Amino acid sequence: MTTKSAPSTLRSRAWFDNPDNVDMTALYLERYLNYGLTLEELQSGKPIIGIAQTGSDLSPCNRHHLVLAERVREGIRTAGGIAIEFPVHPIQETGKRPTAGLDRNLSYLGLVETLYGYPIDGVVLTIGCDKTTPACLMAAATVNIPAIALSVGPMLNGWYKGERTGSGTIVWKAREMLAAGEIDNAGFIKLVASSAPSTGFCNTMGTATTMNSLTEALGMSLTGSAAIPAPYRDRQENAYLTGLRIVDMVKEDLKPSDILTREAFLNAIAVNSAIGGSTNAPIHLNALARHVGVELSVDDWQEKGENIPLLVNLQPAGEYLGEDYYHAGGVPAVTAQLIKQGLIHEDVMTVSGQTMGDACRDAVIEDENVIRPYERPLVERAGFVVMRGNLFNSAIMKTSVISGEFRDRYLSNPEDPDAFVGNAVVFDGPEDYHHRIDDPSVGITENSIMFMRGAGPVGYPGSAEVVNMRAPDYLIKRGIKQLPCIGDGRQSGTSGSPSILNASPEAAVGGGLALLKTGDRVRFDLRKSRVDVLISPEEVAERRKALEAAGGYKYPESQTPWQEIQRAIVGQMETGAVLEPAVKYQRIAQT
Ligand code: FES
Ligand code: MG
Repeated sequence: MTTKSAPSTLRSRAWFDNPDNVDMTALYLERYLNYGLTLEELQSGKPIIGIAQTGSDLSPCNRHHLVLAERVREGIRTAGGIAIEFPVHPIQETGKRPTAGLDRNLSYLGLVETLYGYPIDGVVLTIGCDKTTPACLMAAATVNIPAIALSVGPMLNGWYKGERTGSGTIVWKAREMLAAGEIDNAGFIKLVASSAPSTGFCNTMGTATTMNSLTEALGMSLTGSAAIPAPYRDRQENAYLTGLRIVDMVKEDLKPSDILTREAFLNAIAVNSAIGGSTNAPIHLNALARHVGVELSVDDWQEKGENIPLLVNLQPAGEYLGEDYYHAGGVPAVTAQLIKQGLIHEDVMTVSGQTMGDACRDAVIEDENVIRPYERPLVERAGFVVMRGNLFNSAIMKTSVISGEFRDRYLSNPEDPDAFVGNAVVFDGPEDYHHRIDDPSVGITENSIMFMRGAGPVGYPGSAEVVNMRAPDYLIKRGIKQLPCIGDGRQSGTSGSPSILNASPEAAVGGGLALLKTGDRVRFDLRKSRVDVLISPEEVAERRKALEAAGGYKYPESQTPWQEIQRAIVGQMETGAVLEPAVKYQRIAQT
């Protein structure tokens, strides 16, 4: 590729080599010389490459980046750049209370300040655990300096008694076994821990594998990189190649805005269906699109994604895990299948400097048990359906995970095969659910529809992954494991539940769910993509009046300054749950 900008225009020159401001140049230089860089290095026109480090002892999923960063540095140095590593606010999906969802926007905000305010010409984004990936991409999009993502890679496969155990997914199964008395507490922990045998992110097709795969599908990481398991030597090699490449990207002035086009997002939506990606993906990609200034809506997910089949046989929708995904060909093999059907915009640019078509067209499936050819999918239509109705404007449903048992029980009325009318059981936030789920006086039966509200970006600040509620123990013992679940929260990508999620607007900002009462009849119609509470408009109006008189839907107080700040400025999940005042700051490195 041709060089768009000469080294003399590197933005780091404003710090280290600015003849118009010798005083400040001296000050900047003495402090960065202070740790051992030389004047020659800082003033020779070498690009300064940031390594945005998301790994730490608090973030075990991304911790291996502390090791990989050494190889990234070697790549940067070899290509003629200078590496400067710095920390990113940690987000540990399973360890952060009250929810890791709270921190995506905080991490984003911190990284924007770092990239904007320091002498950084390009950046390697170290991605992995669920929200680290969107936080990094969103920040790079806002600042818009050359950026390349390096995935930490999935963990090795988990095993227990000869069977694959997938991180996250095994918890649901183990919980059912515990409820059914098949294992005790110690057995429960042992079974769950077997799923996480090494460093790396969740080995299932949860939000982490999804977001790392979609980063590659967007063109923001090297082709073939997302699926390489963290401990493999190939991962070290990939770290080195990523370091090499970012230096050239700075010389080529290849920025996120050149890569993250609407066509790139549509490609990612198609790939998301084919991999069986997480229901968190629309939230994160819609957020990223807003920060880079690309039009993208929840309807794009249904239009572009619904009819695409499921090709990747990974848990929770299928059988296999991360190592198998890599050996079968990873994201390029999936993309090549979609290219053959004309479902990929081939001419979009990737960080490699190649178009998506050139990068993936010839990729082959190495194991058809794990990645199916397009003609022989696992599920015919694997995308998301956007549900609407009188309880919310939009919500997402992953229809590909509807089990035969669920379909038989709820969707087999011969007169109305896709509809089910049930009695609402309403929970206000995850604590309420945990306290009452096994209490028989709540009256949950196989004809109940369980609702979770107060779990959206404002109600449970950041939004909790709690909508996929398990059935009460007494029903599980009778073999009823799954009830329909609907809510204004999210669902873990590692759950195979066909819940209706991400309902917007949430109860906490006056969405229709706030008006629902336990015992209400609710009609769930998959064919028409609707969920409606069967009460009269007069009754709705009356309940609305009563809610307003009571001062609106009550949710718990903020516990930290950030919870309060975010609650005041966060948007709804439908539009990415971004910090609304941040959206107008676009491509700020150029201004
Ligand atoms: Fe971090 Fe799954 S909990 S990747
Ligand atoms: Mg999660």
